[in-house]
Formats: sequence, structure tokens, C-alpha cells
Amino acid sequence: MKVCVIGTGYVGLVTGVCLAEIEHNVICVDKDESKINMLLNGKMPIYEPGLDKFVEKNVKKKNLIFSSDVESAIKSQDIIFICVGTPPTSAGKPDLNSLDEVSKLIGKSINSYKVIINKSTVPIGTAKRIKKIIKENLSEENKNNNFDIVSNPEFLKEGEAVEDAFFPERIVFGSDNEKVINLMKKLYEPIINQDFDYANNNPKKREKVPIIITDSTSSELIKYASNAFLATKISFVNEVANICERVGANILDVTYGMGLDSRIGTKYMKAGIGWGGSCFPKDVRALSFTAEEYGAHASILNAVIQVNNYQRFKIIQKAMDLLGIIEDKIIGVLGIAFKPNTDDTREAPSVTVINKLVELGAEVRAYDPVVTKIPPEMDQKVIISKDPYETLKNANLMVLVTDWVDFLDLDFVKIKQIMKNPYIIDGRNFLEKKKLLDLGFVYRGIGY
Ligand SMILES: NC(=O)c1ccc[n+]([C@@H]2O[C@H](COP(=O)([O-])OP(=O)(O)OC[C@H]3O[C@@H](n4cnc5c(N)ncnc54)[C@H](O)[C@@H]3O)[C@@H](O)[C@H]2O)c1
Repeated sequence: MKVCVIGTGYVGLVTGVCLAEIEHNVICVDKDESKINMLLNGKMPIYEPGLDKFVEKNVKKKNLIFSSDVESAIKSQDIIFICVGTPPTSAGKPDLNSLDEVSKLIGKSINSYKVIINKSTVPIGTAKRIKKIIKENLSEENKNNNFDIVSNPEFLKEGEAVEDAFFPERIVFGSDNEKVINLMKKLYEPIINQDFDYANNNPKKREKVPIIITDSTSSELIKYASNAFLATKISFVNEVANICERVGANILDVTYGMGLDSRIGTKYMKAGIGWGGSCFPKDVRALSFTAEEYGAHASILNAVIQVNNYQRFKIIQKAMDLLGIIEDKIIGVLGIAFKPNTDDTREAPSVTVINKLVELGAEVRAYDPVVTKIPPEMDQKVIISKDPYETLKNANLMVLVTDWVDFLDLDFVKIKQIMKNPYIIDGRNFLEKKKLLDLGFVYRGIGY
């Protein structure tokens, strides 16, 4: 099938590559020409493990084309995916400007029947909003050209996005049009049936992927409610971790004991510095905003946000407990990305923690295996180091913010020698506490 993917970010690029891999003819477009130029030159605009190989393979096979000519791509393809960003406004309401802009352009460019699939995470009612904007912008000669809208939320996790695209746990179609649902099933058929050659060797024959067919409003809500639930799980565990600290219990044992109950489960049960990234913070706020808008109280969601904000400042409190006055102290931060295996720094915990430490007068150095520039929201006084040892030289304190697996292999004997004070705050309960205590470090985790 002939597919156009609008927005070549984390979701659009992965979606386009996955559809090309299952033999669709895909054009990925973006208004950001620098992004498209990078892709045309064989470079990845984002860090996502495994993605580059699939891009290279499908560009070679001519299944995948990159362009900044959005209009021509809409005209030439039959199926149009919308994958543009929906960042939060200060009130928490999602900013739908990019989505509106794209909808207008689709309306103006429609020259034959098109199926418009929305993958961006959007508030309830957005499928109807897209439809209205497209209709208003149809040109005179194309007034009779029909189109349909499907809500098809994306559940990929950055860092595991390629796997998630090929092996999703569910696919949701929000539409009441049977013809369009059948077309969607056809489009995703190899993924639904798990019948494709993944990296030339489909590792396991997996079960068919469950399809949820529902109305567009429920589909939009499935996405928000899923992210809000995951964020709730983490905030809940963080609250229990804080109780553990007060009563002398061990959060690792507590969460393990809880998680073995299959009704609870072991995933998303890690205490730490709290959730961040481009999705959870904005999606929880957006769902809370929708709840208020419709007169439904979102007490749990608001508490989930509050616990998460507080969790960042637990790190600062722990730093104060260890160092006393923060001013003029040297603090080495390990990890800038909001989680490992991505270069995404949107709403990363590192930003809040580093900004507060700088505000308190510390000299902050930071190291991340893939983030090598200071993120725009971060205080520009932070020094980005080339390696972890440079970050920690003469440091009074190490703060681990992102649980990159690389940090497990650090030479902690050397680190003990180069640091001024042997203080570690492990914001992810990730390092080997016993080993570090044996080496003479003072170790502070979250809830143990
Ligand atoms: N990143 C994730 O992990 C993830 C997971 C699931 C869902 N989502 C949702 O998917 C959507 C996209 O997220 P993302 O992380 O890929 O965003 P992103 O910022 O990485 O990418 C969005 C892209 O859209 C482009 N764009 C904006 N306006 C455009 C226009 N008018 N024409 C062409 N291109 C345009 C931007 O230049 C950008 O490259 C969001 O709604 C997000 O909530 C994200």
C-alpha cells in the first residue's frame, strides 16, 4: 500500500520504517528540513537502537523515501499517518497547533480518496477535530473526494521502539467504519499475524497481536489512560519507597514481594527519581486537564504528578544531607537522557535536578553516553564531560540519574580515588550497593 507518514520524529520514523519493512511503499515527510537532510545522507536524527539498520535496508529496497515536500507526499499516497508532536501547554492542555497545521494541509492536498490515520497522542474528540479541519480545507475541485479518519494510538517505548513496532502487545483502531477497519487490518496484516521476516530471522513465532476495535474517543482514551496508569504505578512505588526510608524497610524487597502477586506484576515497580520523558508528564497532565474540563475529578492523577515532582527534590534533599551547603560543591551527574537507550531529554529528571543544584551554587558536571549537548531547558552553566571519570574528578558527590547499563561497568576503585568525597546518590537504585559500601562509599538509594 502507498503510505505517507507526516512527522519523522520518534514515532513517525519508527512507524515508517516498520511499514516499509513489511513491504509497503512509504514516504516519510517532515517540515524540519535538517532532519530530512540527515536521513537523506544516511544519518539518524535520533538515537534508537537498531533503527539505522532497518532504515538503510528499506531505503536500499526503495520501500522508504524521505522528503520535506509534505504536499506532494499526501497527493501521491493513499494512506496518511499523522505523527506530529502534541507537546503540553503551560496549563497542561496539549498544544494541537502542529496537528491542526497538518490537517489543513491534508485538506488542501487531497486529490483522491485517502485514509487519515492519527498516531499522535491527542485529547478526546481530536479525530472529529481533524475531520472538521480537513473538510473545511478541501479545494473546490476535490469537494467530492472522500476521506476517512482512524485513531490508531502508538504505544512504543523509546529505547525499545523497534521491537515494540514489530511486536506490539495490542493494536487499537478507533473508527466506526467497517471498510476502513478492514483496510487497517490489511495494512498491519503481517504484524497482526506475526508473519514476517524480522532482521532475516523472526526470533520466535509469536501469538497473533490482539486488535481492539472501538470508537475514536475510546481509542484516544486508551492511550492516555495507559500512560497515566503506568505513571501511577511508579508514583505509588515511590511513595512506598519514601515510607520505607522512614520505617527502615527495603523497597527492593517490598516491591519484589508485591510484584509476585500476578494481579500487581513486577513491571514499572522500580522506585527512583520519578518518571519523565516526552510522554508520561504531558499525558498525565492532559488526562487530568480533560477530567477537569468535563467535570470529573482527577484526584489520583493530580497526586501522581505531585509525588513525581516531589521525587526529584528527594535527590536535592539527599545531597543537602550529605554535603550540607551545596554552594561551591562539585557534583558529577551520570545520565542526562530521561531513560537509557534514548537521546531524548524532554522533561528528563536530569534537567530539574541539575537546574536546582546549579541554582544552589554547585559546579555541576554531567556525562551521558549519547547526549553530548546541554539540553535547551537545562542551565547552560552545566559542564558536559567527555567521560564519567572527567565528570567525577574532585567531585564531592556523584548523582546517578539515568540507569545506562554502561554505568555498571565503571571502575569504582578508580572513582573512589579521584572523587573528593566518596558520596553516591543512586537515583535509580541501579548500582551494586553492597560492592560500593565495601569499597568505602557512602551510598544513598531511594527507599533502601
Ligand atoms: N516518543 C514516544 O515515545 C511516543 C510514544 C507514543 C506516542 N507518542 C506520541 O506521538 C506523537 C509524536 O511524538 P514524537 O516523540 O515522535 O515527536 P517528535 O517531536 O519526535 O516528532 C514530531 C515531528 O513532527 C514534525 N512536524 C511538526 N509539524 C509538522 C508539519 N506541519 N508537517 C510536517 N512535520 C511536522 C516535527 O518536525 C517533528 O520531527 C506525540 O503526540 C506523542 O505524544 C510518542
